[in-house]
Amino acid sequence: MTTATRRVAPAPEHTAAVRFPPGFTWGTATAAYQIEGAAREDGRTPSIWDTYSHTPGRVRNGDTGDVATDHYHRWREDVEIMADLGVSAYRFSLSWPRVQPTGRGPAVQKGLDFYRELTDALLEKGIEPVVTLYHWDLPQHLEDAGGWPERVTADRFADYATLAARALGDRVKTWTTLNEPWCSAFLGYGSGVHAPGRTDPVAALRAAHHLNLAHGKAVQALRAELPSYARASITLNIHHVRALTEAPEDVDAARRIDALANRVFTGPQLEGAYPQDLIEDTASLTDWSFVQDGDVADIHQPLDFLGVNYYTPTLVSAATGDASHNSDGHGVSEHSPWPGADQVAFHRPEGSTTAMGWAVDPSGLYDLLMRLKADFPSMPLMITENGAAFDDYVNPEGEVADPDRIAYLHGHLAAVQRAVVAGVDVRGYFLWSLLDNFEWGYGYSKRFGAVYVDYPTGRRIPKASARWYADVARTGTLPD
Ligand code: NOJ
Repeated sequence: MTTATRRVAPAPEHTAAVRFPPGFTWGTATAAYQIEGAAREDGRTPSIWDTYSHTPGRVRNGDTGDVATDHYHRWREDVEIMADLGVSAYRFSLSWPRVQPTGRGPAVQKGLDFYRELTDALLEKGIEPVVTLYHWDLPQHLEDAGGWPERVTADRFADYATLAARALGDRVKTWTTLNEPWCSAFLGYGSGVHAPGRTDPVAALRAAHHLNLAHGKAVQALRAELPSYARASITLNIHHVRALTEAPEDVDAARRIDALANRVFTGPQLEGAYPQDLIEDTASLTDWSFVQDGDVADIHQPLDFLGVNYYTPTLVSAATGDASHNSDGHGVSEHSPWPGADQVAFHRPEGSTTAMGWAVDPSGLYDLLMRLKADFPSMPLMITENGAAFDDYVNPEGEVADPDRIAYLHGHLAAVQRAVVAGVDVRGYFLWSLLDNFEWGYGYSKRFGAVYVDYPTGRRIPKASARWYADVARTGTLPD
């Protein structure tokens, strides 16, 4: 990527009822720790999120993923719901400590069986399984050995990728190595608002590098195990960073955050080098000597598509000295997830917000897609997550009306459509999330699902948005 403030053409005002391209993937997404529960069953050991959520004060209301939506036991019902909705794909993650409890050695048969049966049931219904290898639940054993700041974790991850490919490669074609490594590195080891809750800026940068290395090694492992079969990708939460004004110091703040949020990953992964400005911006913290000869070549592997998660844009300026602006919407912590960027202030964009307090701004998604096309013209894109939390409730008729979510999805799908019309190669869209679930540090207080989950009983109630999305998926067209 070049700069954060590249000017893009404004989105066209009107979109006639254009159909999405034939073969466009319509999916829903989840992640193991957020839905499975069964935290101590069938040989699964604790992940860093079990440890973190069981530590008082870490997760809102003391919520944990011990039971979650009980998907581990109710997965057949969840597959039926997806089949009813008519989605063509389901993106889910494997729980590393369920498959390989200590993060080393052989796989546990019961863990593999769970994902095999799930995958078979999906395929039977004509739903393509899209497997994420890592959605944040590092085996605690590996954190005890140093976690992502240590190089050995990348090697462990490559072995785990090999096990997963051997067990599921006959039925899973589409693989994603990591989900949002920015969160794993900078929220997990920088601000500490995610597991394992460490607050060390250098550890965060080291983690980012070892996550990059893990990704590259895992892609190589997938290709070695499944030579002509695997589609390999990574999912990044590319921040669409906007400068508050065109003043050079604000534009520079946006450049800095773009480096720390985006180019720290896209640089080595897609362009074969760490950005020079990132190395200079963080020089007072580290000399980056943890990057060894050959690492960047290992990381820079050809990908079949880039997964993009988008929720809201990021608005920054040079620091104003007003601490009230220094929120970046990722939970409260006195520690920054942005090493070396103390002079940057974060602002809440104007307009309506979701229950997360995140601005609703589909133009950010359009601009982001246009920028990705400009920066990586030959890379197909997949929206691997987009969606919104609102304060949903079951009305006296037993239904969940969620017009705000429908409006959010409509606006963002229209933005995707405009980008497709403008020539961006977007292959599909996954709604986050299939089910209400454990929203990390916010516990069960935030509902992102198209399907409502009544946690005391586990009962599932498709919301109005689920029906709306099913129609869009069925017709491949957005209603007016
Ligand atoms: C991105 C993460 O991948 C997912 O786990 C999370 O629930 C959503 N964002 C919403 O915050």
